[in-house]
Amino acid sequence: MSQPFPPARFAGYEAAPNIALVKYWGMRDDRLVLPRNSSLSMTVSRLRTRTWVRFDPSLRSDRFSLNGRPAGGGPLQGAVDFLDVVREEAGVSMFAEIRSHNNFPTASGLASSASGFAALAGAASLAAGLRWSPREMSRLARRGSGSASRSIFGGFVEWQAGRRPDGRDCFARPLFRADHWPELRDIVVLIADAPEKRVRSARAMQETVRTSPAYSERQRTVAGRLAALRTALRTRSADRFLALIMEECDDFRRVCETTVPSLDYLTPSSRAVLAAVLDLNRRAGHPVAGYTHDAGAHVHVFTFQKYVPRVRSRLRRIPGVSATRVLSPGPAARVIGVRSRSA
Ligand code: DP6
Repeated sequence: MSQPFPPARFAGYEAAPNIALVKYWGMRDDRLVLPRNSSLSMTVSRLRTRTWVRFDPSLRSDRFSLNGRPAGGGPLQGAVDFLDVVREEAGVSMFAEIRSHNNFPTASGLASSASGFAALAGAASLAAGLRWSPREMSRLARRGSGSASRSIFGGFVEWQAGRRPDGRDCFARPLFRADHWPELRDIVVLIADAPEKRVRSARAMQETVRTSPAYSERQRTVAGRLAALRTALRTRSADRFLALIMEECDDFRRVCETTVPSLDYLTPSSRAVLAAVLDLNRRAGHPVAGYTHDAGAHVHVFTFQKYVPRVRSRLRRIPGVSATRVLSPGPAARVIGVRSRSA
């Protein structure tokens, strides 16, 4: 049994969102959050979640505030379920207080569950007295949200699916550091009328596994694409990299759209962004940009520093695009402090 350390003091942790270049979509075990395929992502710069946690014997229930407001419903339940995992691991029975802040809009489709559960995994395990390695933290973060397992690490990250039924071999590992490809940029294209995410991806993906006739074909090809992308990253092969992320995104969209009922995350403006990227490449005569998106309407357009002005000015002119933000590969999750008051 571990002792919360120091008792009733806040432990703080910070983590950044990540964008999946090879997607996690489908679980072999939904209680332990064990995926059917490995995935690969880039942790981003500039955006972050900061979370403070304390376990306190005087609390009568768990408390969770997000951006200064008490959270309820699904988000609170998700946090409580996650704290139960931490309490079991640490042999702690106290309730906890969680204070979390994002420096970006929460339900904006910018993967707040990834940075949120990575930061919570770090803060809660520290507050509970668990002295865990990043790998163990990745395994823990996975239980809150699969994609969070990758946000423990910076740069380019692979989450290996593993084979064991108990999930011991299911964690993320860093592939390449954040400075591996200094020219690479991710232009996040924010869509003004993006609908709020109503169903968690963890649920939506299980509908895909159950109903999409395209899913088994995806499962046959996804590991090969991941290996090819790893090579394109290692050799910094721009053309291959851009082609592969778009191929993967199209495959992900195909299994979503063939899910019954269909999962359509894009708006007409998102689709106009995808078309503009293809058009930019056609006009340039070689790939200058590549798109990807997750289960939401915003689009990530990958390109290189020298093309950013050209690509960005084209994307900004698309009706329904509210903003663009230029991101780079970002840092690993880290401790931000232990205090008697949260920040
Ligand atoms: C399409 O693990 O973020 O972003 O927390 O339930 O929403 P929830 O699930 P999460 O699902 C990620 C799905 C994805 C692909 C990916 O990030 O690999």
